Amino acid sequence: MHVIASRAIAVFALATLTGAAQTPQTPKAPRAARQQMVAQTPPMGWNSWNYFHRNVTDQDIRAAADAMVASGMRDAGYVYVNIDDTWEGERDANGELHSNSKFPDMKALADYVHSKGLKLGIYSTPGPKTCAGFEGSQGHEAQDARLFASLGIDYLKYDLCSFRAVMRAQAPNDPAAQMRLMEAAFAKMGKALRTVGRPMLYSLSLGGRDAAWEWAPSTGANLWRTTRDIQSNWDRIYAILSQQDGLAKYAGPGHWNDPDMLEVGNGKLTLAEDRSHFSMWAMLAAPLLAGNDLPNMKPEVRDILTNRDVIAIDQDRLGREGSRIYTEGEVDVWTRHLAGGAMAVAVLNAGAERYSTHPFHLNLVRLGLHGPQQGKDLWTGKEVTLTDNMPIELASHDVLLVRIASPK
Ligand code: GLA
Repeated sequence: MHVIASRAIAVFALATLTGAAQTPQTPKAPRAARQQMVAQTPPMGWNSWNYFHRNVTDQDIRAAADAMVASGMRDAGYVYVNIDDTWEGERDANGELHSNSKFPDMKALADYVHSKGLKLGIYSTPGPKTCAGFEGSQGHEAQDARLFASLGIDYLKYDLCSFRAVMRAQAPNDPAAQMRLMEAAFAKMGKALRTVGRPMLYSLSLGGRDAAWEWAPSTGANLWRTTRDIQSNWDRIYAILSQQDGLAKYAGPGHWNDPDMLEVGNGKLTLAEDRSHFSMWAMLAAPLLAGNDLPNMKPEVRDILTNRDVIAIDQDRLGREGSRIYTEGEVDVWTRHLAGGAMAVAVLNAGAERYSTHPFHLNLVRLGLHGPQQGKDLWTGKEVTLTDNMPIELASHDVLLVRIASPK
């Protein structure tokens, strides 16, 4: 921010000295560079699907935006309010897509969300129908991209859905040709978004299949789903976490792996599970898109979602995703390298029991660390010293998350 501001001032000063334009001009980067400024850190916000599913309405989106402000989430960094599937209505004679009766005025809704200092996201598919059976963008990609820009949309989640059937029909029994069709379909919308003159974050959803991390960046995507749908139960969350092992090298500023939206505060997840889920998504440099009922969340859930130290791990400007370094029994140890040489260490008890009579012992050498390490426990806020072979007791499905400023 400071750099941009001072460059703008420098340009203004130069213009004044040379007697050129008297109004300050912000230097304009080429369009591609401006587009890349989206998602320099993983996006933070909220999405309607995990809590509302098909039932979401305009009022729910407004209430989520209000709650994002009132809860302190906006001030903690959350910015996108994303409408998932089921907003779509019919196309008119000109092919223009309209919202359905649950969303009477999309532009007014976008204006409302923007008036709160937030951004609005929307959902579509390259296929004829969305996953919930609503109107898709097939054959109308450029028109829909223009529509989204004119409405003031800032984020598009583009979900494969019925396009898989299109691929099978167009290239029967030819998986390689089907892949080319899929990549082309995602690239088509990526290109359309780049030509409408409004930065929009571009998020691909495709159920974690087909190694999207290898090819999605070439479609212009800022995010790509690495898994099937998340659910609000520990087994599913832990299964997704384990599937992320090995994907770290594909993530970085502007392009992130997406292990799906958060379930923090949903279903029967315990507070330990909420903490672990949130901690590990931060270790993964994952999008932090809350998926709970924001206006009615418990204070303890709000405290988890607004833990600034944990958010800072997720949003670390280096953009290096964490990796699982080792597993012992049911305990996983992950590390994430952070800007300025710092490091985050997460010790996760994935098991159903508390480790007490036979506590887990941390092996610092396996993390590349030597001798005692001073750090901060990001859930208690207290200073801690990690030592080699130290016993660590964790409740079932709970986590120890430590930031080490100067690892040795
Ligand atoms: C798919 C996606 C979900 C959600 C639904 C909507 O299942 O993976 O995240 O968007 O479609 O129908």
